Amino acid sequence: MFSVTCVAPVNIALIKYWGKRHEDLILPVNDSLSMTLSTNELCAKTTITASKSFEDNRMWLNGEEVSIEESSRLTRCLKEVRRLALATGFQKVSPSWKVHIASVNNFPTAAGLASSAAGYACLVYSLARLYDIPLSDELTTVARQGSGSACRSLFGGFVQWHRGVLEDGTDSVAKQIVPSQHWPNMHVLILVVNDQRKKTASTKGMQNSVNTSKLIHHRADKVVPERINQLREAIQNRDFQTFGEITMRDSNQFHAIAMDTYPPCVYMNDVSHEIVSFVHSYNEIMGSLQAAYTFDAGPNACLYVLAEHVPQLVGAIQKVFPNDLLDSTEYLRGLPISTENLETSQSNKIKLLGIEPKKNSIKYIIHTEIGQGPSRLGEDSSLLINGLPLNQ
Ligand code: DP6
Repeated sequence: MFSVTCVAPVNIALIKYWGKRHEDLILPVNDSLSMTLSTNELCAKTTITASKSFEDNRMWLNGEEVSIEESSRLTRCLKEVRRLALATGFQKVSPSWKVHIASVNNFPTAAGLASSAAGYACLVYSLARLYDIPLSDELTTVARQGSGSACRSLFGGFVQWHRGVLEDGTDSVAKQIVPSQHWPNMHVLILVVNDQRKKTASTKGMQNSVNTSKLIHHRADKVVPERINQLREAIQNRDFQTFGEITMRDSNQFHAIAMDTYPPCVYMNDVSHEIVSFVHSYNEIMGSLQAAYTFDAGPNACLYVLAEHVPQLVGAIQKVFPNDLLDSTEYLRGLPISTENLETSQSNKIKLLGIEPKKNSIKYIIHTEIGQGPSRLGEDSSLLINGLPLNQ
């Protein structure tokens, strides 16, 4: 019997992946570009045990058993990794042995917090460790077939998923642009507005967009290629102004396409739109772009901000979206933020811009930072008890 336990990160797209040109192979209509978040705050953790004596492949997700056979994506990932294992020459574990897989997320599943990306990246990475398969372009094509955005979670720092042009998808791969050390003070605040399961899953939503929106094709052909080049340059130069503007514009365009879909996919809610207004007002008051929002297929905001500006931004958030739980660890989660100096003159000015304070509309905030790719945990954390990792 052999076991591995690995963790994999969440990634948040700055240039969104939206729309497929091949449903089963998960080939996108456009390139996308993301930043990987630290696994200290958000991660998927997966333990895989392989044994000659197991009769079936089995999987538990957050403690509940799920059927691998009923999920074509899971089946495909398992099959593809085993094919790679046979091709690369596995060491201790035979790909013919059945596996038991237990995966947990330490954040809400399917709330627009990229849980499928971390989950599939962790599954594929753990299987690769089990069979001693190196991290390669080809491995990213396997994670991609679990969930498109998962291929980007196989690397840390900033990552580009190249759409590719080949019909078999072998050139639709993720590649790291720069590692996390390139921009170490890049932080993120996730403003959780709602952590319930989203109404229209991304997969269905993007299918409808490709079939009904004309804008999506203009985006894929004209807008994204140009934006990717500009954003790559901004990242290379650590130019937060350009980085922030492109990020916000791309989030807005993605939601414009969601609205152009027929019937429309509505992912942002009133609080999300208030956050957008707030960020623009905040940047105006600060005299430069200091915070940038992006929204995935859900109402929660992800704000990019440099480490040195975090306390001031949280102070301003507290002015506009006051929360009774400010001093509780339930409200401010993740990396510590000093709340002592939150009352700032700048955040007082936010009120003057006419934004009405909205009490308790942000449920909690996760403070995290740019992070590295997946990693294997020590041997001692690799036992399964009833399908669950021993040390969760
Ligand atoms: C809005 O990767 O979840 O988060 O490939 O169908 O599993 P499938 O979709 P998924 O879509 C992510 C969409 C997005 C944008 C992004 O992460 O690039």
